[in-house]
Amino acid sequence: MNKKTQVGIVGAGPSGLLLSHLLHLEGIDSVVLEARSRKYVEERVRAGVLEQGTVDLLCNTGLGDRLRREGLEHHGIELRFDGRGHRIALSDLTDGRSIWIYGQREVVKDLINTRLVSDGTIHFEVDDVSLTGVDSSSPALSYRKDGTDHNLECDFITGCDGFHGVSRESIPAGVLRTYHHVYPFGWLGILAAVAPSTEELIYAYHDRGFALHSLRSPEISRLYIQVDPDEDINNWPDDRIWEELSVRMATDDGWKLRTGPVLEKGIAPMRSFVVEPMQYGRLFLAGDAAHIVPATGAKGLNLAVHDVHKLSRALTAWYRRGSDEPLKQYSANCLDRVWRVQDFSSFMSLMLHRFSGDDGFKTRLQRAQLKYVCRSEAAARSLAENYVGLPHV
Ligand code: APR
Ligand code: PHB
Repeated sequence: MNKKTQVGIVGAGPSGLLLSHLLHLEGIDSVVLEARSRKYVEERVRAGVLEQGTVDLLCNTGLGDRLRREGLEHHGIELRFDGRGHRIALSDLTDGRSIWIYGQREVVKDLINTRLVSDGTIHFEVDDVSLTGVDSSSPALSYRKDGTDHNLECDFITGCDGFHGVSRESIPAGVLRTYHHVYPFGWLGILAAVAPSTEELIYAYHDRGFALHSLRSPEISRLYIQVDPDEDINNWPDDRIWEELSVRMATDDGWKLRTGPVLEKGIAPMRSFVVEPMQYGRLFLAGDAAHIVPATGAKGLNLAVHDVHKLSRALTAWYRRGSDEPLKQYSANCLDRVWRVQDFSSFMSLMLHRFSGDDGFKTRLQRAQLKYVCRSEAAARSLAENYVGLPHV
């Protein structure tokens, strides 16, 4: 069965769904092809920090109601080490910009609901998506749905299918430059049915390893500990996780970590990954399909949003004014921000994680960095403007 659309989108994560939404607002038709079920996509536990630009874009495009109602606006984060907490006053340091805590799964639910209410086309549980003709003016997507083969003719294809997707692999060998750094640690994350023990995020540096106390709502906490990259989750019963979190986040003034039922837990590797360019012919990559950042900087979702905002404006210029220049510049316009975010995410990761085999040199540099950020307004401002995300940074 042959069909046609203006923009074929592979992947119904935040990148693909937001792109489809932004194109719809410009009167541009798209079809989203997703390998997994709607339930799976909506229930995946992922990140939870929205930087100012992401919140502004969602609110300015009709996606802010539940975010504003249920999200939590934060104006600072805490760096905790040597038994003491040091607040980084994000908003004071960035002329009032803030971050919002609102789970990625909630963003995805809002996007799916909004697209379907607007009669958007999202095909879930499709198999064998394949891209053809991406170097021609008539690319196409073939796929199978409910046992029937389909062919979707497109003007453009956007690869929003994440790190393990097919789009990037559709670009001929030798075209892409790939940059890939795997960190010597992973994150064990839990979602717990317990009220957060803190008002703001706590990034803890400890001899036993990094720990992070984030949150999802007044009733749900999200916490992480640094583990070996090949650690087996079965070695971590809930009690051991809570104990390790308590040790790594302990303070001299007796701060207590509330514990409770663990709803979900898992281990994720930490890597930095970028492909250049982020486009080939009529194929454009966005989000995790083009880059991965270590979660320490809370940037993955926000960088994806930045990509698709640029891409939606470039596609609009092509359809509205017949101008192909923004599309030609898409990759260059994104990569400037991608590498800024890679640098910040690497800075946070190298400052806060313990590295086995260190002879003490690295830990001394880390402490010097932590103390500098906590004592110097200039250093704190640099961290703050990267964390909240500034348009010009
Ligand atoms: N065919 C169809 N869909 C696919 C295929 C395929 N071959 N391969 C992957 N997908 C789907 C996945 O099932 C997933 O739903 O593409 C989607 C990609 O979504 P994400 O991995 O969430 O990537 P992205 O939308 O760019 O969002 C980036 O997600 O992983 C986090 O930390 C990351 O917060 C960041 C955000
Ligand atoms: C989260 O809430 O999931 C989260 C917050 C901050 C990070 C990473 C993850 O740096």
